[in-house]
Amino acid sequence: MYKIAVIPGDGTGTEVVREGLKVLEAVSKSAGFKYSIKEFDYGAERYLKTREVLPDSALEEFKKFDAIYLGAVGDPRVKPGILENGLLLKMRFGLHQYINLRPVKLYPGVETPLKDKGPEDIDFVVVRENNEGLYVGEGEFIKKGTKDETALQVSRNTRHGVERCIRYAFEFTRKRNKKKKLTLCGKTNVLTYAWDLWERTFNEVAREYTDITTDYAHVDATCMWMVKNPEWFDVIVTDNMFGDIITDLGAMIQGGMGIAAGGNVNPEGVSMFEPIGGSAPKYSGKNIINPLAAIAAIGMMLEEIGEKEAAKSVENAIIEVTSKKLKSLSAGKMGYTTSEVGDMVCQKIKMLL
Ligand code: IPM
Ligand code: MN
Repeated sequence: MYKIAVIPGDGTGTEVVREGLKVLEAVSKSAGFKYSIKEFDYGAERYLKTREVLPDSALEEFKKFDAIYLGAVGDPRVKPGILENGLLLKMRFGLHQYINLRPVKLYPGVETPLKDKGPEDIDFVVVRENNEGLYVGEGEFIKKGTKDETALQVSRNTRHGVERCIRYAFEFTRKRNKKKKLTLCGKTNVLTYAWDLWERTFNEVAREYTDITTDYAHVDATCMWMVKNPEWFDVIVTDNMFGDIITDLGAMIQGGMGIAAGGNVNPEGVSMFEPIGGSAPKYSGKNIINPLAAIAAIGMMLEEIGEKEAAKSVENAIIEVTSKKLKSLSAGKMGYTTSEVGDMVCQKIKMLL
């Protein structure tokens, strides 16, 4: 019996989570596992009413679950940063979800902006460090508001934090068992403290993984190769900030935010799964947003909690829908409503398992 915490959140988050949960129900019946859901109302509405984003007690409560399923946070009525920091980053840091796992996979039938590239070329995973780097929020203003002002923003990289991320990436590359190639994406030529530590750690750990081919690319070059030769990548490991940036590029080459899912993973604790796009307020309440990213996040969640067969069938059902049904992955252009897309995935699951 799995215990799943659900935070639908804001905007279209609630609409896509509804479809994700529909798929979870369908796949649980076909695969034969049981689960319970507890819903939490954290997000903009609650913040506007109570001025509380996420109490510390919530973090403690979340630790009792097997996984967390998050829709999206963000609302035009709330100042940028409040929900991002107070909810998303607080969960990632507070629950030690030190890996952000972001697959970049072009499914059959999905259009990519990359000319002459297909599903056989675009299939890699970014392992983004999720607890350190520039995201620690350290820094200061010096002489704020004067013409001599300086703003400092610290990137903190600990040996412990870097090593556990790199080790996870090597293990992941081995288990994935595809090209067995791990690329370190950094900026050793300019950021000579942080990336010196990353590179040293990477090379040291690599000696334990002689079955894995290693490679290094600067972050700017990584962006170039992702567009020019995405087939070169198998797994990319990088820091929090670079990982944030290159995974938006990754989402675009795999067909857009409508399909891109991610997991905030604590391999020793509770992990959180989410569609990586935002709350898309302009589409909310219209039943036109694409739920496939949220459904793919359910697939990732099932994989992490150990329901591998169920995870596979969610992915196969998504592929059936993208390859045979949808006109486009963009909101309002799918040729179907949000709930119809959810229903189609459920039907495919029933047929496939
Ligand atoms: C993401 C988002 C977040 C991040 C924001 C909302 C804080 O862009 O999940 O990639 O920067 O990590
Ligand atoms: Mn981002």
